[in-house]
Amino acid sequence: MSRSAHPAGPRHADVLSEGHYAAPPADLNALDQKVWAQTVGRDADGVVTVGGVDVKRLAEEFGTPAYILDEADFRARARAWRTAFGAGADVFYAGKAFLSRAVVRWLHEEGLNLDVCSGGELATALLAGMPAERIAFHGNNKSTEEITRAVEAGVGRIVLDSFQEIVRVAHVARSLGKRQKVQIRITVGVEAHTHEFIATAHEDQKFGIPLAGGQAAEAVRRALQLDGLELIGIHSHIGSQIFDMSGFEVAAHRVVGLLKDIRDEHGVELPEIDLGGGLGIAYTGDDDPREPHEIAKALTEIVTRECEGARLRTPRISVEPGRAIVGPTAFTLYEVGTVKPLEGLRTYVSVDGGMSDNIRTALYDAEYSVALVSRTSDAQPMLARVVGKHCESGDIVVKDAFLPADLAPGDLIAVPATGAYCRSMASNYNHALRPPVVAVHDGEARVIVRRETEEDLLRLDVG
Ligand code: LLP
Repeated sequence: MSRSAHPAGPRHADVLSEGHYAAPPADLNALDQKVWAQTVGRDADGVVTVGGVDVKRLAEEFGTPAYILDEADFRARARAWRTAFGAGADVFYAGKAFLSRAVVRWLHEEGLNLDVCSGGELATALLAGMPAERIAFHGNNKSTEEITRAVEAGVGRIVLDSFQEIVRVAHVARSLGKRQKVQIRITVGVEAHTHEFIATAHEDQKFGIPLAGGQAAEAVRRALQLDGLELIGIHSHIGSQIFDMSGFEVAAHRVVGLLKDIRDEHGVELPEIDLGGGLGIAYTGDDDPREPHEIAKALTEIVTRECEGARLRTPRISVEPGRAIVGPTAFTLYEVGTVKPLEGLRTYVSVDGGMSDNIRTALYDAEYSVALVSRTSDAQPMLARVVGKHCESGDIVVKDAFLPADLAPGDLIAVPATGAYCRSMASNYNHALRPPVVAVHDGEARVIVRRETEEDLLRLDVG
């Protein structure tokens, strides 16, 4: 297949033959627990509730579109990761999935650390009170200013991503009279089984320093020589939305191989390894994600076994889940604006948001589920495509879905599993105003990131 056509283009217009689609679900009103946040259900009137608050009230009070986040679910997932890995390991939540001051506070309270990858994320983390030593700073092209702020703040580790950065961070640390803890991010030549655009550990990409050709070993040599740096470990991140643990197994094997080479060459046993994030979640009923305790067990066993084989002390392990913690905890609530049946094809359901609040369908061909949430319906299922209000035919939120045939303007529908990489990748395309994030908990709803206003937009336009 030609790689010149972007999947967000022509492929979105494909009309598939009849019989291609899976049969509609037996009960369109049922909410598959796999894809919805933990406290989601329907009340006696059939209205969906989350955290004890019904979606009609949420729409009235906060407007649509809105991301609705189940705080209890977020905390439970964060805690499950923390508990699964125990005191001998560290869990760094990857802030790029979704970051706000409230989220930082919850993470702090639940005993998680935080991975940031920009000055903006670092500022949010520090402002919300995350202790600097619990922050890891990532990025393949951190500016000198960002590095200076991170070193000054006293972040727990900077993950070095290039030969230039080794020197840059050492220089900044020395000039501030500090010795900065660092890890080196290496690429181990593993291509995780996931969407090609978001696989990040095979060699032909921008992140990390390749293990191949002795480059990672050379990076270690240089880092060990610089007094501004304290090299504490090796980092590997192999991709995102991964279900198959075998990629981690190969990665751990290669990382431990490097630790052994370092011991043999320098007589130093590095105390830590970080295996990154990337664990998949369920976007549709077909996805079968692993639980944190299974992942912790698998990763710990792999590393322990590899280290025993290499006669190394087992290093402290850390991981960086983003999507697996926040992804399932939120849904996007939309109001239906128009319903357009196209004879013999499908029905286009236009909502009041679109690719500006969820770019993942257009960008990665991602699959999502959707449900009518303001009421139940006994109508027949209709094959629908949920689209946004942007001036682009690739503006699709849910490509193929069954919704009740009596769906009408004013109905509320919700797309689950939008907690990760939706608000954080939202844009102002067509001067759309980015939706708020509303946290619900025990019958209370509160805005944690407010809706953008036209005033916010125009503030940047200096005329
Ligand atoms: N650690 C590092 C170094 C990373 O680069 C990432 C994600 C993570 C941790 C967290 O990965 P997670 O557990 O959330 O999969 N925008 C794409 C995903 C990009 C992921 C980039 N790095 C998406 O929407 O699928």
